[in-house]
Amino acid sequence: MIVCVCSNVSDRKIRQAVDGGLTRMSELRDQLEVGTCCGKCNSCAKNILRECLANAQPNAVQPIMFHTQAMAA
Ligand code: FES
Repeated sequence: MIVCVCSNVSDRKIRQAVDGGLTRMSELRDQLEVGTCCGKCNSCAKNILRECLANAQPNAVQPIMFHTQAMAA
């Protein structure tokens, strides 16, 4: 789905950008030019960004594993 008609940015591009490490609307604006023309896409882009970040968080926190044998050495 095209989110930003002015800059031809799809939800897929936003998801890829978030997977690549972007976390803020200002970064999406700088890198994808989302919302930099008429601004009508801002709320939709923000919602997609929030959704992507919410989905990404469980994977972002990796459990720390300790190997007791390695620690004893
Ligand atoms: S639709 Fe995104 S700036 Fe116009």
